[in-house]
Amino acid sequence: MNCLPCDQKYAIHYLRWMQTRIENLKGLATLRLNDSENDFLAGESMDNWTVIENAFIEMNSGTISDFGSMTKCPSNNAGFKIIDGTGRFAMPAFIDSHTHLVYSNDRSEEFQMRMKGHSYKEIADSGGGILNSSKLMKTSDESELLELLLQRLEKARENGTTAVEIKSGYGLTLETESKMLRVIQKAKSLVPQKLWSTFLGAHALPESFKGNHDAYVKEVCQKMLPFLVDNGLLDFVDIFCEKNYFTPAHLDQLSEAANKFSIPLKAHVNQFSSSGGLQAAIRNEAWSVDHLEFMTDKDHLDLQNAFKSKSSIKKPIPVALPGCSLFLDIPYTEGRKIIDANLPLAIASDCNPGSAPSSNLSLCWSLACHKMKLTPKEGLAALTSNAAYAVGAEKIMGNISVGMQANLILTKPISGIAFMPYAFGENNIERTFIAGR
Ligand code: NIG
Ligand code: FE
Repeated sequence: MNCLPCDQKYAIHYLRWMQTRIENLKGLATLRLNDSENDFLAGESMDNWTVIENAFIEMNSGTISDFGSMTKCPSNNAGFKIIDGTGRFAMPAFIDSHTHLVYSNDRSEEFQMRMKGHSYKEIADSGGGILNSSKLMKTSDESELLELLLQRLEKARENGTTAVEIKSGYGLTLETESKMLRVIQKAKSLVPQKLWSTFLGAHALPESFKGNHDAYVKEVCQKMLPFLVDNGLLDFVDIFCEKNYFTPAHLDQLSEAANKFSIPLKAHVNQFSSSGGLQAAIRNEAWSVDHLEFMTDKDHLDLQNAFKSKSSIKKPIPVALPGCSLFLDIPYTEGRKIIDANLPLAIASDCNPGSAPSSNLSLCWSLACHKMKLTPKEGLAALTSNAAYAVGAEKIMGNISVGMQANLILTKPISGIAFMPYAFGENNIERTFIAGR
């Protein structure tokens, strides 16, 4: 495989290792973490941002070493690269905790069919949808898939995303799922972003198992999963728990298999119906419950109960995917209701060719405010600190705090933090810093 241009490009990033200070910022947004019991921000605490006016921030050896008001800014510039932040804001960078970024062709033809009135389900039932991407995946060249993934990650970085979870799920055979996960593995060493790989073998039923979901789940749990773990190819497992896809009982089986290898579970639940996926994910201690567009009152209560125990076990953070709601024209996750019940909420892009072909988290921030009625600050918490919790990275990223990885967004000159979601569809990010570079 010849990936020299990418290798060289990213090597240059890694070699630029210096201390950096951004001065004269119009504002710097940092979260006040005063609830030591939780590693996530729930309810009102999602609004707990302080915006320090006329601020500076220092980054050293990849982490945040100091920040505060310009009145306390050190005057020693020796060894520092100084950046003038006049008129600009600094804030923690975005973390995308749910994507399907490995694919070859887009599915814009299906989009045109939907615009003519065909539903996502109709298209999937007639061989389109996930199976369409799966057909293409089988014949896709591994190095081309990698190149496409690197381009998508570069675009995400320009849009402020500094850490990304990426799922397989268009392979649906051991061979092709392995290919997708190898592509993610290779990308981990080539891009500046932190990446996590998730095995989503239980995404759709392949043609070869037609009519036999149980046998396919057995294959996923007993054959694919152990092989992929043996080869060090995954950080999480995931399942699409939905009518016509996989059942809560299948989720139980996958969780049991993953537990043997201590691999945490994530789950696609309640995207098109309320059919027990959420409850299965909760009882199996999933790290996140993603989608939640179709929630009954009982589903909301069960989710609230999952957060009642005071113990320090990992809680199933709800992850809303507003880009998917926009694109498929389905309900938005009731983020306002979830936060008002004193729960945390994370937001991710779900970027994939079929239900959310955009990795733009600034746009998701706008949708969170305009459509889910979050405040701009709650939206930022959902894209940073709470998104970090969804991938278990809350101790190292997701806030501006001394000792955390220096992953920041430096905006263009704007009036305030709220301008970011207010000006929907614009990119007001001037620079993205990853580990201080
Ligand atoms: O999260 N719901 C399952 N998976 C994706 C869609 C995948 C596709 O259509 O290609 C999602 O929306
Ligand atoms: Fe998804």
